[in-house]
Amino acid sequence: MILVTGGGGKTGLAVIRALHDAGVSVRALVHRAASTGRAQSAGADQAVVGELGNQADLQRALRSVDAVYAISPNMVPDELGLLTGLIEAAGREGVGRFVYHSVLHPQAEAMPHHGQKLRVEERLFESGLDFTILQPTAYMQNLKGYWDEVVGQGVYRVPYPIETRLSLVDLEDVAEVAALVLTQDGHVGATYELNGPDALTQSQVAQTLGQALGRGVEAQELPLHEWLARPETQAMGAYQRQTLAAMFRYYAAYGLVGNPNVLAWLLDRKPTELRDVLSRDFVSRM
Ligand SMILES: NC(=O)c1ccc[n+]([C@@H]2O[C@H](COP(=O)([O-])OP(=O)(O)OC[C@H]3O[C@@H](n4cnc5c(N)ncnc54)[C@H](OP(=O)(O)O)[C@@H]3O)[C@@H](O)[C@H]2O)c1
Repeated sequence: MILVTGGGGKTGLAVIRALHDAGVSVRALVHRAASTGRAQSAGADQAVVGELGNQADLQRALRSVDAVYAISPNMVPDELGLLTGLIEAAGREGVGRFVYHSVLHPQAEAMPHHGQKLRVEERLFESGLDFTILQPTAYMQNLKGYWDEVVGQGVYRVPYPIETRLSLVDLEDVAEVAALVLTQDGHVGATYELNGPDALTQSQVAQTLGQALGRGVEAQELPLHEWLARPETQAMGAYQRQTLAAMFRYYAAYGLVGNPNVLAWLLDRKPTELRDVLSRDFVSRM
């Protein structure tokens, strides 16, 4: 039995599906009871409703599991504290394997959610657990947040310069690797960067979106102050808003570029291209 935390979220559901397809029993830790059905539909055999910060919930979730796939909540102020609690609880419960879903370049501490993951990785080094760390870049599936504007207005508007180069990865490739490192021998102590085939500029992303739709899509920079003033940005919690703004500033200054070789080696094939994700997950569902 493998415990997947964040089991009702975007990443968790993909990992549960991949583990289920690999024939592995899964217990999902979900935060809200309303997420239970989603986790079960994805293939979780069991779902535990609980709070990562609550030791009694962790003890219930970890009971008799062979391994943990640890997914942090997205952009929360105490990610380090929550994950440290999970690592310590896994040690107490005698869990054999711990795989941490980190992020590409956790050393980039100007982005708080990266910096917290760097420190979680450090806790793992010190824990004595048999760990593996996966460092995926941003998912191609995040483009769903832009899709309505792309389809409706033919514009791909991002809060950083359109020349910004970002490595993206197919979340399904990441989930396949998650299942693989949990079911194959030989991955204890490893840290793997997971990047898709190309680090595209945002103009190239717009071009690929246009090719998928069969019409022109123009990339435009949305000034950061305009993004900050949007009602949907204002509606976010302060930590999430500040963290996203820090991430956009970092992207504008440096981009986020990794290398696809490790992912190709793990999958034993070429990582999935953006155009294939767009036709599989976006255009076919219009
Ligand atoms: N999105 C990307 O491109 C990307 C790339 C690399 C790494 N990551 C990392 O992947 C992780 C997950 O991202 P995601 O996009 O899958 O986020 P997500 O869809 O928001 O999922 C996170 C899950 O965490 C659960 N959660 C929130 N607070 C919790 C708490 N206190 N205790 C227990 N569970 C809690 C939520 O449960 P409920 O749904 O029940 O509220 C949610 O389902 C993040 O750490 C992110 O930094 C993301």
